[in-house]
Amino acid sequence: KYAVITIDGPTASGKGTVAHRVAKHLGFHYLDSGALYRLTALMAQRKNISLDDEASIAVLARALPCRFVHGHVMLEDDDVTDDVRAEAIGVAASRIAVLPEVRKALVDLQLSFRNAPGLVADGRDMGSVIFPDASLKIFLTASAEARASRRYKQLIEKGISANMEDLVKDLMERDARDSTRAAAPLKPASGAIILDTSEITAEQAVNQVLEWYAE
Ligand code: CDP
Repeated sequence: KYAVITIDGPTASGKGTVAHRVAKHLGFHYLDSGALYRLTALMAQRKNISLDDEASIAVLARALPCRFVHGHVMLEDDDVTDDVRAEAIGVAASRIAVLPEVRKALVDLQLSFRNAPGLVADGRDMGSVIFPDASLKIFLTASAEARASRRYKQLIEKGISANMEDLVKDLMERDARDSTRAAAPLKPASGAIILDTSEITAEQAVNQVLEWYAE
């Protein structure tokens, strides 16, 4: 069994950036588990499967034809790197993520990312459900305002217009859905260290995680 660092937390907490940089620094593999939920949602949409058809979506999830190649996300032969990041797919992903059979169907695929020399896994339930024996578990959080303003900057940089009020509202709705669902609700895993990034930069967060890992 190889070392695993789990980084869980709410939407736009900076998990993706921090997890990716920690993985790069240590030369570890990186699992973006949210991408698997997004890919499943995208595939369901493409196949015209209703987002509450639990059994059919679980079948898709169990044999997800996806590959991660040099930062690109492939679904069958299509490069869907941009498509999976779309806001509508994030919303669809959070809808199918409440379905227990879909969560179960993605377990083996997530476990398969654990390889030499180690793994950094980013998501909602990495430390609680998928890798409960992780060497280091982090719960990354930030205030709704800090998260909304980060998302705002990302959108503006991409040339997409955005409005802070709507972003804060969306974040709160997504938080409520992620934390009140019955299947793997978002909460710190037992043994997780809580890291609030409202007042620190991504670089400081990365250094803090590396320091804890080295301890
Ligand atoms: O951008 P954001 O952090 O919202 O999205 P993401 O990490 O790509 O995940 C998309 C959705 O998948 C989230 O809203 C969660 O509801 C769900 N998810 C989950 O339930 N469990 C995970 N391990 C990862 C994502």
